[in-house]
Amino acid sequence: MAGSPKVFVARRIPEDGIEPILAACDARVWEDDLPPPRAALLEAIRGCDGVLTLLTDKVDDEFLDAAGAQLKVVSNYAVGFDNIDVPAVTRRGIPAGNTPGVLTETTADLAFALLMAAARRLPEGDRYVRAGNWKTWGPLLLLGPDVHGATIGIVGFGRIGQAMAKRARGFGMTVLYHDVHRADAAVEAEHDATFLPLEELLPRSDFVTLHVNLTDQTKGLMNAEKLGWMKPTAVLVNTSRGPVVDGAALATALKAGTIFAAGLDVTDPEPIPMDHPLVGLDNCLIVPHIASASRATRGKMAEMAAANLLAGVRGERLPTPVNPEVYDRA
Ligand code: GLV
Ligand code: GLV
Repeated sequence: MAGSPKVFVARRIPEDGIEPILAACDARVWEDDLPPPRAALLEAIRGCDGVLTLLTDKVDDEFLDAAGAQLKVVSNYAVGFDNIDVPAVTRRGIPAGNTPGVLTETTADLAFALLMAAARRLPEGDRYVRAGNWKTWGPLLLLGPDVHGATIGIVGFGRIGQAMAKRARGFGMTVLYHDVHRADAAVEAEHDATFLPLEELLPRSDFVTLHVNLTDQTKGLMNAEKLGWMKPTAVLVNTSRGPVVDGAALATALKAGTIFAAGLDVTDPEPIPMDHPLVGLDNCLIVPHIASASRATRGKMAEMAAANLLAGVRGERLPTPVNPEVYDRA
């Protein structure tokens, strides 16, 4: 549309998001399944009023310079925004948006699925059957820990961490948590959750599940030392960000049996290279960053990302900005 805001959408997203964008903007959508290479991205965003980005698109000074001074909004199709240099966009007074809330329950569902599948060895069992190894009912075949009644240690007690607590209570689990901010007494009571420092939470937990944002403080949080605090029977679940776990240290621990199993939705890097030591381990379940991948949730994320993009190009306040401070200094 002539005179409409110019936007670039860095990948095909569900129709719920694409439709309103196409209706209101002069929009170009990157049609390839793979992300735009850096040079193509920088070229595509030149002169844009708004850009809809994914976790795979790094938004930094180079990106902002390439777009130009007219850029009014960066809308990230994700709740996490570690791909965005927030101080850089904020310095330029540009609001950035994310999609919080809508993916909380869907992500917790997947985290719980990983927890159960890693504990009860579902991928190994499936491989065993398909390899033709199933000869009889085996009293000692594919034994793992119980999920019900176990102790879960939730690291990062935000929306998704609390949604995990709700599921864990349904399985009669004891809920421990750690967070940089201790939750209100009412929230602790609602989830019957006990706050502990990591050095106490990790040795007590049968399951450790990570729900922190990736920051300088959480990068490498689960290193060799902290993995060493976990029980040899324990399972680690990561649906947060790959770099929160030291992958080499995790592979060493899984191989040595100092922890029992891991279920990972995120790795460092992504995709995980096929020669990474974790890929060769039977007790490491890995799925390709699909925690929010239900049809309904991806549709809602698309609606939210479109709403942020359209508000931004119209000069309105984003419904869900990650840097609301841009609005404080007008
Ligand atoms: C996915 O990882 C997200 O942050 O939405
Ligand atoms: C993300 O941090 C969430 O809890 O939704």
